[in-house]
Parts: sequence; structure tokens; C-alpha cells
Amino acid sequence: MSALFDLTGRVAFVTGAASGLGHAMAEGFAEHGALVVMADMDEAGLAKAAERLTLRNLSVETQRLDVRDAASVRLAIAEAARRHGRLDVVCANAGVTGGAPISDEAGHIENISLDTWNNVIAVNQTGVFVTLQAAAAVMKPQGFGRIIVTASISGMRVSDVSGYPYTVTKAAVIHLVHLAAVELAPYGILVNGVAPGPFMTNIAGGRMFTDAERVKSMGASTLLNRVAHPNELKGLALLLASDAGSFITGQVIPIDGGSTAK
Ligand SMILES: NC(=O)c1ccc[n+]([C@@H]2O[C@H](COP(=O)([O-])OP(=O)(O)OC[C@H]3O[C@@H](n4cnc5c(N)ncnc54)[C@H](O)[C@@H]3O)[C@@H](O)[C@H]2O)c1
Repeated sequence: MSALFDLTGRVAFVTGAASGLGHAMAEGFAEHGALVVMADMDEAGLAKAAERLTLRNLSVETQRLDVRDAASVRLAIAEAARRHGRLDVVCANAGVTGGAPISDEAGHIENISLDTWNNVIAVNQTGVFVTLQAAAAVMKPQGFGRIIVTASISGMRVSDVSGYPYTVTKAAVIHLVHLAAVELAPYGILVNGVAPGPFMTNIAGGRMFTDAERVKSMGASTLLNRVAHPNELKGLALLLASDAGSFITGQVIPIDGGSTAK
């Protein structure tokens, strides 16, 4: 059974790997034998995150990368594949919040600045699109690949706690997963998404989790009455990256403590 989840000899590339969910996925893959290229625009955070893993003798490399820079994304992914002779798993995970929730006046539609809108789209939507383009370019010729997009339950149904730009980008990448899965299936490339509910990360500069009342109310939105630790994403990501997930494609799987069941 454990062979199904073994990533020995596989190479993974994870964006937004310095922190939170990207870091947890990178760690989970490395713990199961993969060599992981950890990419992030936060160079100092990335160095620290990678050091923690190399101290445990896990195989990781770092790649400074801003996913808003399409040429760099293409180059970094192509170079990772060239260096290692293959690229098995790509996680398009880097993402930002932006724009107040619609429950705040600042989040009302007439108050969202185009700068905020454009930046969230550049990272969460165009950044994911370009990462998938680059992944497909190396995976098509090798006839194998696993692509995992970090969406959000905010992209599945609207709520008054997520703002316009974030919600819209997460809905867009869910459709991107479906479309790319259709196109890439004949090449042996499986494309899936994870749709997290509330996870305790540094998203929004960590501000979302400094207020105990807010954390409590985010927890109360789940059936389990709590927010999740980033490590709780590892199992689902490993399923989608490994042979255990060989018949799963075109799915966006909520991992949300049951929030979307209500
Ligand atoms: N935390 C949650 O509750 C939650 C819920 C649903 C979805 N998500 C999604 O999970 C993903 C990861 O977020 P997180 O919660 O781990 O937050 P995080 O802030 O802890 O980690 C995000 C990482 O992405 C990096 N990043 C941001 N912009 C980048 C860019 N332009 N180029 C490269 N790297 C960049 C940051 O430096 C950071 O290391 C995001 O797509 C987010 O929307 C998070």
C-alpha cells in the first residue's frame, strides 16, 4: 500500500513554497521521497523554509520566483525539468488575498481599486495559468505529469468573508483545472485542484489569524468547529501527486472540515 504513495525518484515543483500550504505540500512530497523545487518570491522565507527541510535530510532546492513574471516561470520550470531530466508534479499554489470582504464597506464593488483587482488576478489567476502552461510544455513530451492547483472553497460558492478579486480568481482557476484536465488527459497528465477551507497560514500577512474571535468564527464555519493546520493538506496533495491518484483528474476537491456540506 505504501508504494502507492511513494514519490522516490520523482521531481516536484511547488510555487508559494516558503510558507503555509505550499510549504506543507513541498514537505509532504519530500517526506515521501521526491526531490522538490521550492519556488517563492520571498527569498529569505524560502531559504529558512528549505533549511528546515534539508536539516531533516529531505531533498529540496530553492528557486526565487515571482509568478507574475511569466518568462521567469517558464524558464524556472523548464530549467528544473532539464536539470533533473524529468518533472513529475507541479503545484500552482502561490496566491494572495486582496480586497476587503463584501461585509466591509471597503469591499463593496464600487470601492475595489483596479490596482488591487489587477494584482490579485496577476498572482492567483494569470500566475496559475502561466504555471500550467509551463508545466504542460515539459510534461507533454514526457507523456506523464501531475498538476495540482490550489483553489479555495471561496471559488466554489460565494460568502461575505472573501472579497471580489479573490473569489473571482479562485472560481476562474477551478474552470482552468477542468479545461486543462480535458486537454491534457491524452498526454497522461492529470490536473486537479484542492479547495481549502480555513487553514492557519500567513495568508493576508497572517492578520486573519491574530484575532481570536475571528479564528473562532472561521472555525465555526466548519463542521469540525476549528481551523486546520497546513500539515492537514499533505495527505490530499500526496494522493493527487502519487500513483494512488492514478484515476483522478479534472476534480477540485474541497478540504474544508465540511464547510461546503452545510
Ligand atoms: N490559508 C487558507 O485558509 C486558504 C484557504 C483557501 C485557499 N488558500 C490558498 O492557498 C494558497 C497558499 O496560501 P497560504 O494560505 O499558504 O498563504 P501563505 O501566505 O502562508 O503562503 C503563500 C506563499 O505564496 C508566496 N507568494 C505570494 N505571491 C507570490 C508571487 N507573486 N510569486 C511567488 N510566490 C508568491 C508568498 O511569499 C508565500 O510564501 C493560496 O493560493 C491561497 O489562496 C488558502
